[in-house]
Amino acid sequence: MTRLAERTTRIASSPTMKVTATVDRLRREGVEVIDFGAGEPDFGTPAAINEAAKAAIDQNFSKYTPVGGAAELKRAICDRYRTDYGVSYQENQVITTAGGKQALYNTALTLFNPGDEVITHAPFWPTLTEQVKLADASPVLVPTSAADGFAITSGPILAAVTARTRGIIINSPCNPTGALISEAELTVLAKEASRRGIWLIVDLCYEKLIYDPTPHNLPAVLDRHCRELSVVCGSASKAYAMTGWRCGWSIGPAPVIAAQTALQSHATSNVSSITQKAVIAALTGSQQPVTLMLDEYRRRRDSLHQWLTDDPRIRCAKPAGAFYLFPDLREIMAAAGFADTNALAQALLDESRVAVTPGEAFDAPGFVRISYATSMENLREGSRRVLEFVARHAPQPQAAPR
Ligand SMILES: Cc1ncc(COP(=O)(O)O)c(C=O)c1O
Repeated sequence: MTRLAERTTRIASSPTMKVTATVDRLRREGVEVIDFGAGEPDFGTPAAINEAAKAAIDQNFSKYTPVGGAAELKRAICDRYRTDYGVSYQENQVITTAGGKQALYNTALTLFNPGDEVITHAPFWPTLTEQVKLADASPVLVPTSAADGFAITSGPILAAVTARTRGIIINSPCNPTGALISEAELTVLAKEASRRGIWLIVDLCYEKLIYDPTPHNLPAVLDRHCRELSVVCGSASKAYAMTGWRCGWSIGPAPVIAAQTALQSHATSNVSSITQKAVIAALTGSQQPVTLMLDEYRRRRDSLHQWLTDDPRIRCAKPAGAFYLFPDLREIMAAAGFADTNALAQALLDESRVAVTPGEAFDAPGFVRISYATSMENLREGSRRVLEFVARHAPQPQAAPR
């Protein structure tokens, strides 16, 4: 038997990435699949960002940089947050990382000890809880409810606090639900976190993807009420269509950032130097590409939501942010006799060639995550196939003749 370290037995590999791998395999085998599983923008990286990377290559910007990133990149992040949120951070309060994922990983490993409890809201992005486990701490899940659009509120989170609570992780906009925490609810959490000495970590990786005018200045709330006990994790991946470039960041108190830098110095060192130049261009250049992508995502969200809810048994709140719908299929599953959403998703893939991510991946059986980071044409055809699949497996009861 292969003898692996015990920590590897505590975690499962990313279920969302599994869907991507299945779609890739089927496509290589020549099978045409509509992919609603993707957790990444379908847009290309904006041209000005690509140009900056090409220039970096031509200028041989190809050496190690400081572990936490070049000073120019850190300044660009501080400036972006000052412009967008009115908060002021210095370079020693920022580290750049290989995606938001590493920012969150560094944060978990530098803040949590064995035996600590870390609260987050469910349904949740599975990496958040797996990272807590890798830090030898225990995730504590607080459910949110489909009935109110999965709103993230302070009451149930604070009710879950115990003497062992060391941290609270908020993901807003949330993957997979697209829900937000309001500034007022985060204020309650921030004040309590400050009073009780609990870390408040906010994953803002989808911060640029909020569709309707909604106050969402979470960095300012943290700055005002618990600056010394909070960490913001952000990313260039979703906002600038840069998932493959791998650049994210943590922003927080200088000692936390110093600890994250020491950790990263023995793991991955700096983010690719070429990527750093590209992200500087993304953060300091025109933000119009972000607005254009946002407008297109909004159109897709509205259309897909309308098409799918054509069958009233597909219950789905219209999400405020990110690029996923998270419909409740429990009525259909019961009518069709699927044991769980894994079985439903597999049948949908086998029979209709549509890939979705089953809710089990996010601790939400009965729901599926449908990504609308794909073309309108795919959304139209994919939703047609989903409705046809549903009609076949769970025919609508006919109205009794009068
Ligand atoms: C909620 C959430 N946070 C963070 C990330 C990290 O993304 P990246 O590492 O590409 O920046 C993701 C990616 O899917 C995510 O869904």
